[in-house]
Amino acid sequence: MTMPMKHELPKLPYAYNALEPFIDAKTLEIHHTKHHQSYVDKLNAALEKYPELQSKTIEELIKSLYDIPEAIRTTVRNNAGGHFSHTLYWNTMSPTAEEYVPEKLGKEIIGTFGSIVEFKDQFSKAAANVFGSGWVWLIVTTNGKLKIVSTQGHDNPLMTGDRPLMVIDAWEHAYYLHYQNRRPEYIENWWNVVDWKAVEKNYNSPE
Ligand SMILES: [Fe+2]
Repeated sequence: MTMPMKHELPKLPYAYNALEPFIDAKTLEIHHTKHHQSYVDKLNAALEKYPELQSKTIEELIKSLYDIPEAIRTTVRNNAGGHFSHTLYWNTMSPTAEEYVPEKLGKEIIGTFGSIVEFKDQFSKAAANVFGSGWVWLIVTTNGKLKIVSTQGHDNPLMTGDRPLMVIDAWEHAYYLHYQNRRPEYIENWWNVVDWKAVEKNYNSPE
């Protein structure tokens, strides 16, 4: 008999104070240990009665939402989504982030959006304009194009078959302790910790 696989909160690849002054330690710690942890816990609780779903990866669960029993579908959508989105968010930030966008991805961004500055501007505007709680993503669409998309709640591009490269958490819980209601200021500062090397790695490694 195999033990059911539980989803686990991933360790952050840096200390809670490592992204200061751009993301403050208290917000990051609560965000990771309370918010993200609760998505993982609720997902595990929802899957408890469904051993056949427990061996699926988070990506597999999200990509096959319509095969998930209706009784837990919304819970899985929200909490597997929250788990996936936060994991990408943590992994594409770094205290040693460099401003330089690696060449291959940089060329693709310039080809699509005109310039890096224009891309950042469009991305920031989309993040500022998320109504309520949501996320803004840079994705590779199913036909191979770069695109900026917004999602509500914890919906994410895996649900539409797209491939996410980077993401900003536009939920208030991502910034409120330090920035209060000043989401545009959080977004502007967040660019300082975007780990372009990690983003390009995602770009270069299609599933
Ligand atoms: Fe969050």
